Amino acid sequence: MASSCAGTSSRVRVPRILARHGSHFALALFVWFAPLGALAQTESSVARAALWPRVAPALPSQEARVEALLARMTLKEKIGQIIMAEIQHVSPREASRYHLGGVLNGGGSYPGLKRSATADEWSALADAYYNASTTGRGTKIPVLWGTDAVHGHNNVRGATLFPHNIGLGATRNAELVREIGRVTARELLATGLAWTFAPTIAVVRDDRWGRSYEGYSESPELVAELGAAMVEGLQGRIGENWLARDRVLATVKHFIGDGGTKDGDDQGDNLASEEELARIHGASYRSTLAAGAQVVMASFNSWRGQKAHGSYGLLSVALKQQMGFDGFVLGDWNGHEQVPGCSVSSCATSLNAGLDMFMVPEDWKALYRTTLAQVRVGEVPMARLDDAVRRILRVKARAGLLDGRRPSEHPMAGDASVLGHPEHRALARRAARESLVLLKNNAGLLPLSPARRVLVMGEAANEIARQSGGWSVTWQGTEVVNADFPGATTIYQGIAERVTAAGGVASHIADFAELPALKAPAARPEVAILIFGETPYAEFEGDLPDLDFEPENDTHLHAARRLRAAGVPVVSIFLSGRPLFINPELNASDALIAAWLPGSEGAALADLLFAAPAAADGAEHAGHYDFSGRLAFSWPAAPDQAPQNVSQPGYTPLFPFGYGLSYAEPGEVPLLPE
Ligand code: BGC
Ligand code: BGC
Repeated sequence: MASSCAGTSSRVRVPRILARHGSHFALALFVWFAPLGALAQTESSVARAALWPRVAPALPSQEARVEALLARMTLKEKIGQIIMAEIQHVSPREASRYHLGGVLNGGGSYPGLKRSATADEWSALADAYYNASTTGRGTKIPVLWGTDAVHGHNNVRGATLFPHNIGLGATRNAELVREIGRVTARELLATGLAWTFAPTIAVVRDDRWGRSYEGYSESPELVAELGAAMVEGLQGRIGENWLARDRVLATVKHFIGDGGTKDGDDQGDNLASEEELARIHGASYRSTLAAGAQVVMASFNSWRGQKAHGSYGLLSVALKQQMGFDGFVLGDWNGHEQVPGCSVSSCATSLNAGLDMFMVPEDWKALYRTTLAQVRVGEVPMARLDDAVRRILRVKARAGLLDGRRPSEHPMAGDASVLGHPEHRALARRAARESLVLLKNNAGLLPLSPARRVLVMGEAANEIARQSGGWSVTWQGTEVVNADFPGATTIYQGIAERVTAAGGVASHIADFAELPALKAPAARPEVAILIFGETPYAEFEGDLPDLDFEPENDTHLHAARRLRAAGVPVVSIFLSGRPLFINPELNASDALIAAWLPGSEGAALADLLFAAPAAADGAEHAGHYDFSGRLAFSWPAAPDQAPQNVSQPGYTPLFPFGYGLSYAEPGEVPLLPE
């Protein structure tokens, strides 16, 4: 071993110099090519180095290994390494033939398109890709498989689904988030996967954005704190257990400014100054890169008119040269095709700007051919290609991918009992509990006594999809039924269990229009729990023109008003991917809980709704648990109110950042303007 290293040292030396000074070298080269590329668009160039301080930590060196591999690779192998395709569009054999660096399964894509695929079946496919890439012709470099495990391993049947990030933001509990990362890593490893496209560390500034729920908060500091905790949970901690065998690779996304586009348009334009971009949207990159994040996903959005996928200033200057990021930049789903002059199958500009791996789910062969030609004629400098490959190999080396172990050799691989393990579900239930924000609780209606006649209304009470939102078994979280979530509990199940155990009577009516007769006092419910909210969506499908909650639909409001008119107190549970204008609902309810998208453990709601069992003296005590969730997003006072973000001038939300009632600290909400 030692002698072969010595023998190749002269071949290795040149690339090693490039490794250390590669980015400057690439910059020098780039200036030559500037008229062809991103630098031509000077209006969005990164100009103030001090705004992008060096944060990347010193990590164990893998350079000798990386350079040795790189030196053996052919041009074609290098081109393959910078391409990622989707599992429905590339077989293991093709991935090996083209030496692809990565594969992914998109939202709602499973091995063989089989939604019920088991841990074994996932792991077997991971092995198939691994085996093909390590036994084919040429340099043997295992392929990396990435997946969107964004609230638990959400494409996998039976996995634990944690609350979406918006709920985790309300917990403000970094230790909890770290633990969720650790557990998500275990469920990933059970399926043979070791890389997730998470966490989203968007700082959400306009809640009309359809991806608001993927972000922890509107506050840069809170996103920075929780994002770093998630990265540490997934990957382990530097110097302790970083990328140890029970951990996976994280991806921080989407770089940069995705949460701050004009009007909250998904994939839109962020108009921030460089100072604001760095201060607001850069904070979570500073913290997560410092925590050892190795992959940064470029964003679909533009900054001041220029797509991030084509921005040399953002990708190469700010992120790599200034902040010191030495992992790789992954493109988003065909994100390069939106760069001016590019198409899905051709985009030298992205590569020259600093993208290291293209995510090109279907048309990867065409992109492969074009990129090969572009390098051959010098449209993409060889030094840039080498830099991209070097970064990918470095991350693979750090992640242990080059250590010769098949995915299925992991002790957890194929172990179905890891998915939705009781301890994981207990953690998810706790997270859901801590994410709930009590917006209103007039006259101390909550906690309820469970020994009552409790009427639960709304179809969301008994549909896992409604409590899980987008990125749950399918991309949009639609077209799923409860049977797609084995082991999960609905909100109604939790309520019914609690009420029945205490000797009360729970009933459920899905349709708000089917309110029962309320005349006979003996049959009348003693309390009603109404559950309503947004229906699932993901990405641009969730963009809204304003923050009005279902202006067309008021059946839930009618039900609430009639119940209260008949003397039945009303508790509302609002499921949503963001704060919305719900003054009519607040007025029509005695108590209202913002429950966000709690995930698979719907029974968590019952933990906070009801008082602990009666004590020996017969007195009822406040719930065993208290509400600890606090708003991480400001709540709007009007549907068309300008975006409300904490510490902005003219800040007049209905409920401010940090608001949240509890049993210990009650409060009354007055009648609100509708
Ligand atoms: C999303 C990413 C996601 C990718 C792969 C894109 O459309 O923007 O967040 O990781 O798809 O599914
Ligand atoms: C995929 C998602 C992806 C989206 C991008 C969908 O078909 O399933 O993973 O993010 O396309 O538009």
